[in-house]
Amino acid sequence: MTYTRKDTDDRKTVEGILDGLAVKTIEKLKQKGAFSELIGVLKEGKESVIILVTDNNDKKLILKVFKITASNFKNMQKYIKGDRRFAKTKPTKRAIVYTWCRKEYANLLRLYDVGVSAPKPHAFLDNMLVMDYIGDEGIAPQLKDTKIENPKEMLEKIIQQYELIYKKADMVHGDLSQYNILVFEGEPIIIDVGQGVLKEQPNADEFLLRDIKNLCAYFRKLGVECEDEYVKKRITD
Ligand SMILES: Nc1ncnc2c1ncn2[C@@H]1O[C@H](COP(=O)(O)OP(=O)(O)OP(=O)(O)O)[C@@H](O)[C@H]1O
Ligand SMILES: [Mg+2]
Repeated sequence: MTYTRKDTDDRKTVEGILDGLAVKTIEKLKQKGAFSELIGVLKEGKESVIILVTDNNDKKLILKVFKITASNFKNMQKYIKGDRRFAKTKPTKRAIVYTWCRKEYANLLRLYDVGVSAPKPHAFLDNMLVMDYIGDEGIAPQLKDTKIENPKEMLEKIIQQYELIYKKADMVHGDLSQYNILVFEGEPIIIDVGQGVLKEQPNADEFLLRDIKNLCAYFRKLGVECEDEYVKKRITD
């Protein structure tokens, strides 16, 4: 398979942004069969790097690398504390980032198991997570960069996805916004679920309400009627 310059940001090579330890982690993931080839960096954010990789059938996958030093680990602790799944995490930066990665993997799996449209997780190790690539020739755009033909219908689809997240996976996303929803073939795909908490967690309600406020504020700007309380009822009742 060949990749055009459009596939990757050719100013940034993978080698240029990963340290020696990261290179070792990548080698281990390859040995485990999680993927076979690094293609290039697709996006680099404050806290993570999104890398295009392929498996041994040349299928595209995403390798998400969580940065250790740049991580806002104080904020991460808020979403780890109180989660029975991660109670044993040590309070060091590295341990918290590793847990964060494992948490995004576990959350993606929970969502995948109940049929939420989200990338299927394949593997994780330390601060690296391998998951499905959303897109075809080009990467699927974020909701904020998508011209939506029928915003009301799109909002409805997102509410339905959130209902599955809440009622079937017993979770709250915690960072839902027009940045963390991709649009592929007209359907919303939910991503970036590291903040996701179980709905039994004490602050789950606060996070749910914030997600709904973000969602409604965005769709109201697109001219769609969206009332926070109504959406909350739809998701939780
Ligand atoms: N599985 C995927 N398929 C296609 N694109 C993806 C995938 N995962 C992430 N992306 C792209 O990379 C961007 C950043 O990923 P994500 O939201 O998971 O990380 P982030 O934690 O927000 O990173 P940062 O805080 O560093 O910006 C997404 O908005 C999306 O454009
Ligand atoms: Mg994001």
